[in-house]
Formats: sequence, C-alpha cells, structure tokens
Amino acid sequence: MRPTMAKLNILRYPDPRLHTLAKPVAAVDDRVRRLVEDLLETMYAAEGVGLAATQVDVHERVIVMDTSSERDNPLILINPEITARSVELAVAEEGCLSVPQIYDKVERHARVTVRALGRDGEAFEIEAEGLTAVCVQHEMDHLLGKVFVEYLSPLKRDRIRTKMLKKTREEQRGR
Ligand code: NI
Repeated sequence: MRPTMAKLNILRYPDPRLHTLAKPVAAVDDRVRRLVEDLLETMYAAEGVGLAATQVDVHERVIVMDTSSERDNPLILINPEITARSVELAVAEEGCLSVPQIYDKVERHARVTVRALGRDGEAFEIEAEGLTAVCVQHEMDHLLGKVFVEYLSPLKRDRIRTKMLKKTREEQRGR
C-alpha cells in the first residue's frame, strides 16, 4: 500500500532547530520510506533541488535531491558519508529552502564520492560533480546542523538573519 504523502513545514533560518546534529537511521523501514516520500513532496512543492530531514525538524540522516531539469530523477541518500573529495574546489551560487530568496557564492569541493543507502535500504556509491556535488555537500551540512549562510561573512549573515526574522514577523501578522 502506498502511503499518503504530506507536505511538511520547512524551518526557516535562524531557527535554532536547524543547528541540531542528525542521528543515523537505524533501519530503512516503512517509517523512513514515509519520511522520504514526504521530503520529496515538500521539496518538489517548494521547487527546491534538495532537502534534508533537519529542515523539517526530523533529526535523522536522510536527504532527498533532484538536480535534473525535468524534475523526475530523485536521489535519496540515507546515512550518507563522503568517502572521497577532490582537491579541486569550485565556487557556485547557492540558495536554501530554509533561507528563502537569498543566494550567495560558496566554495566547496568540485567532486565528491558519496556512499549511502537508498529507499529500499540498498547500499550504493555515487560520484557527484557540478550541481549535484554542490547539493550533496550543502545537504550534508544540514545534517551536521550547518546552514550555508555560515560560510558568508558575519556582516552578511547578520543582514540575512534580520531579513528572515522580519519576514517571519510579517507573515505571522498577516495570518
Ligand atoms: Ni539548504
């Protein structure tokens, strides 16, 4: 039986829960598959390329991504670990569903090899480059409680924090 999917609420920076360290998934069971489905539903609805469980206040090592232009090629990473990183670095503009409408440049490894479990608990390894490499590193940071704005200067980060708090206040007033 296919579980009913549900859109989840995405935590917004600077919500302190975004700084929670995620725990490994003990077993890829129906509960975890349900979480994966909900993460995918939430990510596609928000038009994001990646979403970590941390961002929906579930502190387990689960990530969903889709960097395809057709939005039909989901990548599910459960208990992901980076097993190799290129010496070469690359700078790319990043955004985050937890920091809406903010984009800035971050330097990361140009290529990474990731080992993870898929939605049926099968182990696999992928070599990621380009947008996929950026996304893997960005989402894995979320599992460690790190948001991409932490790579920016303190001045920029403070401005973003103020802007996000203002946005949240305005939305709450509008309700
Ligand atoms: Ni993000």
